Amino acid sequence: MRDTFLPFSLPTIGEEEIAEVMDSLRSGWITTGPKTKQFEEEFREYIGARHAIAVNSCTAGLHIALAALGIGPGDEVIVPTLTFCSTANVVVHLGARPVLVDVGEDFNVTPEAIERAITSRTRAIIPVHYGGQPCDLDAIYSVAACYNLPVVEDAAHAVGAAYHGHKIGSDFLSRGAEEQGSGGAREPRSRSVEERLTCNVQRVTVFSFYATKNMTTSEGGMITTADDELAERMRLLSLHGMSRDAWKRYTSTGSWYYEVLLPGYKYNMTDIQAALGIHQLRKLDDFIAIRRRYARMYDEGFADMPEVERPIIHSDRTHTYHLYVIRLNLERLTIDRAQFIEELKALNIGSSVHFIPVHLHLFYQRAFGYKPGDFPVAERIYERIVSLPLFPKMTEDDVKDVISAVKYIISKYKKK
Ligand SMILES: Cc1ncc(COP(=O)(O)O)c(C=O)c1O
Repeated sequence: MRDTFLPFSLPTIGEEEIAEVMDSLRSGWITTGPKTKQFEEEFREYIGARHAIAVNSCTAGLHIALAALGIGPGDEVIVPTLTFCSTANVVVHLGARPVLVDVGEDFNVTPEAIERAITSRTRAIIPVHYGGQPCDLDAIYSVAACYNLPVVEDAAHAVGAAYHGHKIGSDFLSRGAEEQGSGGAREPRSRSVEERLTCNVQRVTVFSFYATKNMTTSEGGMITTADDELAERMRLLSLHGMSRDAWKRYTSTGSWYYEVLLPGYKYNMTDIQAALGIHQLRKLDDFIAIRRRYARMYDEGFADMPEVERPIIHSDRTHTYHLYVIRLNLERLTIDRAQFIEELKALNIGSSVHFIPVHLHLFYQRAFGYKPGDFPVAERIYERIVSLPLFPKMTEDDVKDVISAVKYIISKYKKK
């Protein structure tokens, strides 16, 4: 057994991040300013998006994305039930109804479930790229195009992930989405700037930089879109609805005068957060490479264990392994998932569960009438899942310790 506790996640913060934060603190410019602008620009380029808007959380970004789309009372928004509560909470904040839907065995929402849930009141779809593996975007955008519905991608886990060779949140969509329901070609292809903006589905992507995410700004998020009008509205909504560049009003080139064009929110990112983000972004591809290597080690470690199901991986997508989630084959074990987690903890290994399905939370049952049994795939997944430690700062020996601990628990509690 390990003699120190291995947490589920730890951020990797280097000297570069620390020096950049100190520079912000010393400069006196500690809220939204030049570093936030630089971070937006570098992120925009990394993703390949026309616009990037930094906000103080992914939740904030999802909220203003829906607000910019005009979602309000009486509207319905489709949300997978296997997600963090904030994906659904933001719909409720706007007075709309979150229409929960089931997921597939790969933990991602299915296009079929989305299509079945569409009514005359549906105003948007929020697919969640669970754990950093993209949803089937061709099929989802085909449905969206067919019904003329905007898509807000919850990419909280998916910074750096790609679908058919295109980064999540980039302006590129693969061909199927543009061919409106034709179920078109699935091969990646390069395209011109003009071509990539032709898809008529309104589209926004929102990322999280929360402490456990693949890159972090402690708290923070980023919105990307190719849509000029939506970008302008979201930028306004992120800072009180104040007219463009109001953040500059205390600089020598700024002006004290501003106008409030919308009743916006206070969701701006600070330069202290951006100072972290600038350096985390430069390290992101290396972080992802380590996560992928450790995920392979887990895959190999559990390969001969029928009691442990490994994640389902799609070869047409680049998975960033924000999470490595195993599914326990409970029929072969004498303990349940909660006991399994306790056993891991007793062996000095942290873990987590992603997620308690939204429809099992009290508020959603009371407010919208959801009940256990509504979404059988997500419920079955929920009873069995364990997210194992996975972060770049852990060592190969840490990964081996986790594999040994899982093997030990399984051998102890396996049905004879
Ligand atoms: C799927 C999903 N969506 C949204 C969020 C919210 O992100 P944030 O904490 O940046 O608001 C999270 C956070 O963990 C998440 O896992």
